[in-house]
Amino acid sequence: MAKTETTSLLAELQNLNAPQLRRLLVEHLTKQKLGLYWESNAIARDAALNANVVLPRVVPEFSHTPDGTAHHRNLVIEGDNFDSLRLLRATHAGKIRVIYIDPPYNTGNKDWVYNDKFVGANDRWRHSQWLEFLYQRLVLARELLTSDGVILVSINDENRSRLELLMDEVFPGRRLGSLVWRTKDTGNDLDQRFSHVHEHVLVYGNKGFKFNGRATDRSKFRNPDKDNRGDWSPQPLTANKTLLERPNTYYPIQDPATGLWYACDPDSTWRFASEKVIRRLLANDEAAVQSALAALRSDTMEAFIEKKLIYFPPSKPEEVMQFDTRAELLAAIAAGKGPMLPKKKTPLLRADLPDIDFWVGKPIAPGRPSRKEHWTAKPEEDRLAPLSSWIAGLNEDVVTLSDDEEYEPVVLRSARGGVATEEIKNVLGSKAFPYPKPLSLIKGLLSQATKPNDTVLDFFAGSGTTGQAVLELNAEDGGNRRFILCSSTEATAKEPDKNLCRDVCAERLRRVIAGYSGKPGYNLAQGGEFAYLQLDKIEAADVAFEATPEHATTLISMQNTAVAPVERAEAAIQIVAIGGDWLTVICHAATPEALDALAALPAQHGLARLAVFCPRPKALAALLAERGVEANTYSIADALLKGQVRGGQGASA
Ligand SMILES: C[S@@+](CC[C@H](N)C(=O)[O-])C[C@H]1O[C@@H](n2cnc3c(N)ncnc32)[C@H](O)[C@@H]1O
Repeated sequence: MAKTETTSLLAELQNLNAPQLRRLLVEHLTKQKLGLYWESNAIARDAALNANVVLPRVVPEFSHTPDGTAHHRNLVIEGDNFDSLRLLRATHAGKIRVIYIDPPYNTGNKDWVYNDKFVGANDRWRHSQWLEFLYQRLVLARELLTSDGVILVSINDENRSRLELLMDEVFPGRRLGSLVWRTKDTGNDLDQRFSHVHEHVLVYGNKGFKFNGRATDRSKFRNPDKDNRGDWSPQPLTANKTLLERPNTYYPIQDPATGLWYACDPDSTWRFASEKVIRRLLANDEAAVQSALAALRSDTMEAFIEKKLIYFPPSKPEEVMQFDTRAELLAAIAAGKGPMLPKKKTPLLRADLPDIDFWVGKPIAPGRPSRKEHWTAKPEEDRLAPLSSWIAGLNEDVVTLSDDEEYEPVVLRSARGGVATEEIKNVLGSKAFPYPKPLSLIKGLLSQATKPNDTVLDFFAGSGTTGQAVLELNAEDGGNRRFILCSSTEATAKEPDKNLCRDVCAERLRRVIAGYSGKPGYNLAQGGEFAYLQLDKIEAADVAFEATPEHATTLISMQNTAVAPVERAEAAIQIVAIGGDWLTVICHAATPEALDALAALPAQHGLARLAVFCPRPKALAALLAERGVEANTYSIADALLKGQVRGGQGASA
């Protein structure tokens, strides 16, 4: 704070009495909150944040429009993503299910531009500028997500904590967790003798979001004991709680059919309570026992056994252990020959266990009991295995010692970072882009986060890896996912003609769609097309004069059907959408030809209702009524301002 400011504040405070000062202090203290602080008022304003109107223009020469393309479902949007996001807020609010971004990491190595200048390590406001820059964009992006949408954000370890707090601010209560990706095999930071080899993917999801997980493998449901309820799969009976943590769920179990006993693992006690134990603990006070049983969230072990829902694996007589004296039992334990967990080979019985005497003279079975889950007992949705937060390397061995094979998590696999540069080189023939993400990483994330009809947005698209991942996924599972990629040109005063969006992002997609290095391309059904959009910014007051028919057609089309048109807006009328019994049309000028064409539309298409966007809606409605046509007419100018100008004010966040 400047010195003069402090002096005048002190002078002001001098005039306050004790209650006033106390009230001020309370106000100050209750304003404090837990979270992230950055100096948004101190830094230079982001020049991209403005209040004008952003209008899209399709550039056919940079678009990819194979024969038969009726409209563009995929979009590549050139420009600062603040503008692209403002446009998308007007056209795609609540329509995007998955956002993946890989923003500049603010490494200090001049890896991102703020107000046309690269931000270096010594920039005093480096972190605040970065946070403010991302905050403004994330706030816009938040409005685009569907109610079950999710945003996945790549970030390095150094900036993870700052970005995570920022995400908490923008998406309060929506944090689902983070995935860890190993970026390289060895690091080489010799100064620190610390090898930095991982990055994170932060996950924030709206309420309805779930990863896909893995559908249960039906073949794992079998019927070895000819259960007349049908096939079942074994589920673990233990709960990862030790004897010390949950002494009440540490007890022996007996198979009523064979009389064999099963010891409880002291490091992982049973998942279910025992009525016998409850009775013992409550000294058989019947009222207390009944109320304890009623409070349980699941059946007791005795009830599961009674319902024949516990599977006791058959044991060979020679494997059953029995120790006739305490000394014999302790000697076997000491020699490592007592009862063991079959998989982990850790002892089930130890000399210091409270129930060690119980086991003298009891026949002890070698296997482990499990709970039967019948195929018919649970809907498929509840039987899905979860996604692991660990992203393994392509050839990495992933060992899990879970008893719960069916629910073993789905482990994504990704190449290391260096592979991604090669992937682009294979398509574009040169090292065209620094630090892209590997295709396998983004494909893996999208295979878990998307459903086949989702729209995926990447507003830091860089070289367009996300677009290629969407195409590959569609080809693999017959899906209809769409992509929207926003990329800057990266033009600066030094390189005014640079156009990364056109020459790397769109060019990569064009080549991938056509097929390269012997790899097949992608047809229209798989998403093998895209519109290349440039953005024009117009002051709200000038929209009625400066917006072109092309702007109107593209924007209204995107607003109404989320697609961009293929043709230029030359015809007198243009059909935007045919849906239900509605026909949505744009009429740029109410010429006699246009009126004739409009009047003929309902009969041509067998539709009763017409919605027409035009410059003067009232006048057009009257002219159409004279011709016996009833139409809902809307103002093009209003449509252009919709979602961008609020209450007559600019739309900057
Ligand atoms: C880390 S790269 C993304 C790489 C991408 N995941 C890939 O695989 O190619 C970040 C990208 O964000 C772009 N970028 C930075 N600021 C931007 C802005 N304001 N608007 C649009 N793109 C921006 C940079 O040009 C850079 O290409």
